[in-house]
Amino acid sequence: MEFNIKSGLPEKQRTACIIVGVHANHKLLDIAKKIDGVSKGYLSSILKQGDLTDKQGQTLLLHKVPGTFAERVLLVSCGNEIDDNQYRKIITNAVKALLKTGTKEAVCYLTNLDVTGRDIDWKIKQAVEITQATAYSFDQFKTKSDDGHSFNKMVFGISSKRDIAKQACQDAKKISDGINLTKDLANLPSNVCTPSYLADQSKDLAKLHKNLTCKVLEKAQLKKEGMNTLLAVAQGSSELPKLITLEYKNGGKTAPIVLVGKGVTFDSGGISIKPSAKMDEMKYDMCGAASVLGTIAAVAELQLPINVVGIIPSVENMPSGTATKPGDIVTSLSGQTVEILNTDAEGRLILCDALTYAAKYKPKVVIDIATLTGACVIALGGHATGLLGNDETLIQDLLKAGEYTGDRAWQLPLWDIYQEQLESPFADMANIGGREGGTITAACFLSRFTEKYQWAHLDIAGTAWVGGKKKGATGRSVSLLIQYLLDCSSKS
Ligand code: BES
Ligand code: MN
Ligand code: ZN
Repeated sequence: MEFNIKSGLPEKQRTACIIVGVHANHKLLDIAKKIDGVSKGYLSSILKQGDLTDKQGQTLLLHKVPGTFAERVLLVSCGNEIDDNQYRKIITNAVKALLKTGTKEAVCYLTNLDVTGRDIDWKIKQAVEITQATAYSFDQFKTKSDDGHSFNKMVFGISSKRDIAKQACQDAKKISDGINLTKDLANLPSNVCTPSYLADQSKDLAKLHKNLTCKVLEKAQLKKEGMNTLLAVAQGSSELPKLITLEYKNGGKTAPIVLVGKGVTFDSGGISIKPSAKMDEMKYDMCGAASVLGTIAAVAELQLPINVVGIIPSVENMPSGTATKPGDIVTSLSGQTVEILNTDAEGRLILCDALTYAAKYKPKVVIDIATLTGACVIALGGHATGLLGNDETLIQDLLKAGEYTGDRAWQLPLWDIYQEQLESPFADMANIGGREGGTITAACFLSRFTEKYQWAHLDIAGTAWVGGKKKGATGRSVSLLIQYLLDCSSKS
């Protein structure tokens, strides 16, 4: 998808479609008024017929409106006061309506709407992200594409602040491409997207940018390092484990921000095998890894003046004669021992070694991103990512970035009292803490490996993909993470 900025009168645009907002009670403001003028009251007469209600986000497509040069005019009902979510809905519905037509390119005037407390930079960025997300489809494995829309260019019609708008448009395109990379990787089936595949993709990404390097630790090196909890998860599968590191250096000698992404390319549960319903969705258990890759790709495209390290522990969790068995005890890289009571609580086992490994970068902060617990899906549903950590400033910064982008997170308590649920009679800790507070006890487990630095944990189990008929990855947490990194860049 291509994006651009344009000034000039709406009625003069020679394009397949212009997109124009209409306020409640059919009140025509600025742009709609202009079109109504040149069409000699055509818009107001159509609106009088009642074909477009005041319901925010409702659309009405008109063809060959007199006095205009555009083939179509898409009217969108906008209400009067518009908040963040309402603006997002207005843009989403406009793009959905476009995709049903044969429109190849459109000029959109919706970024001129007043959104409470938001400037043109925010409005353009959101519009770009939403447009690319709404037009996204994953059809690599279809021999015939079924929803083949031809829409491939969105131009935003603006009357002022051209430079700011242009910059916002370019940046948002880079961010949106990062999100698309995340979605593509996540949507791949696990017979294609294996730990080796993720390692190869990471190496390819590093080749594209001179300040990005990739290293992959192979099984033998993982053994030598002592990453035994990671290896314990991988040992039931014939796919080899990988620990991928991506180092982006553009911040001089400043301490890096480390992102750790759970990369379980398929989670069968292992010997503690999962029920078969929806088990296919466990190909998405590498969404944390995909988020790290998408975020780093965008950071490198944006050339942010910071240092960022991505660490991706990647394995496949399978049952077999060589698999870890419930009750097995292993020694993690940190030296702490873990009794693996449930082989389906594998995410924390690969993350704990990766988090211990992260300390060697002397990080400013470490953020891990993981589809970690079914309990998080129950607690927060599909709208908020779970957020826990050991540093209140970092947590507030992440919450703020989520609020700004609409990629929202919600904090859960990481109180000491929950740690008791992880006690084991035989090892330093068990890898499960019972059903109660499952998201919190999973984070408690991780917290035992993150004491040396400021750390936050994003549980994206509920937000990383949607199930059902429109099954697909969402790219969630990439917007939040990039916004957080942009905020860090402007502070440094
Ligand atoms: N990958 C799953 C978590 C998950 C489940 C994410 C469903 C999204 C949807 C994770 O590895 C897992 O299996 N967690 C267990 C932990 C339990 C055994 C303590 C869970 O949530 O059931
Ligand atoms: Mn599991
Ligand atoms: Zn898992």
